[in-house]
Amino acid sequence: MRDLQFARHRRLRTSQSMRALVRETHLQHTDLIYPIFVVEGNGVKNEVASMPGVYQISLDYLTEEMKEVRHLGIQSVIIFGVPQEKDAVGSQAYCDQGIVQQAIRQVKRDVPELTVIADTCLCQYTDHGHCGVVKEGEIVNDESLELLVQTAVSQAKAGADIIAPSNMMDGFVAAIRRGLDEAGYVHTPIMSYAVKYASSFYGPFRDAAHSSPQFGDRRAYQMDPANRLEAIREAQSDVEEGADFLIVKPALAYLDIMRDVKNRFPLPVVAYNVSGEYSMIKAAAQNGWVNEQEIVLEKLTAMKRAGCDLIITYFAKDVAKWLNEKQ
Ligand code: PBG
Repeated sequence: MRDLQFARHRRLRTSQSMRALVRETHLQHTDLIYPIFVVEGNGVKNEVASMPGVYQISLDYLTEEMKEVRHLGIQSVIIFGVPQEKDAVGSQAYCDQGIVQQAIRQVKRDVPELTVIADTCLCQYTDHGHCGVVKEGEIVNDESLELLVQTAVSQAKAGADIIAPSNMMDGFVAAIRRGLDEAGYVHTPIMSYAVKYASSFYGPFRDAAHSSPQFGDRRAYQMDPANRLEAIREAQSDVEEGADFLIVKPALAYLDIMRDVKNRFPLPVVAYNVSGEYSMIKAAAQNGWVNEQEIVLEKLTAMKRAGCDLIITYFAKDVAKWLNEKQ
């Protein structure tokens, strides 16, 4: 082997501390955003069948849950409301007494140091399960914007720290920015679901949030998984319209898109590690087929390596615990 010329890459892998010295990507508590589902009623703590470890909870469990989240070192949550009553125009989404508005007020009162992100969409609130107003079988863009603006403003009024519009209507960031500004919320940032694909990975979420479309699908407003340039166009519009954060969703099958978005736009990028990605790992782990902790840490690290700054994940509490144990 004497005259052979080659690089000794293994030099930097010889020990735990050597590896730590050259590690390029680190996962931290502040990266994590924990999603929660709040339902109406009292004493409700329902485990979502397709998402073991994820619960729909009523307001009487909320404060305790938020204190635990905070105690684990997580500083942000994103709240999804699951209302009892649905109608054609999703009125419960923008009602001051809506379940999400109540939840936001409660968290900001009881655990004010948590950053509360409000998911702004109509699909959980409409009886047809679409993310906008439906007319003759079509999801009408501009009329939906008006309802979204009302929803965002009512969430900001309830105390939401960040508004996260997810319905994929064109112009939603521009409309919400103007609406928030006119209502006096010039300092409330918008975390836009800028790049959201029409994905089969959302299946379990629709169980958790009762938000499945009752007819058709979301392909006329969410993106085609085959497209990459379209992601740039979507993100570009949102940046121009005033977005403060850009979400890429789902995460795992879209790491290339995450990197594209990170390279192009100087904004914080958020990965949404969606329900289907969670359920697949849970199912495999429950069968003893994979090591849950190792595989979760590996995939979240991969998302950060791909360029995201923050991760919305149902694993947030577990990850925070594992990070705490390591310290
Ligand atoms: C609402 C919304 C969805 C998700 C987040 N916000 C569902 C959808 O578009 O059908 C999915 C999140 C997940 O799967 O974890 N529009």
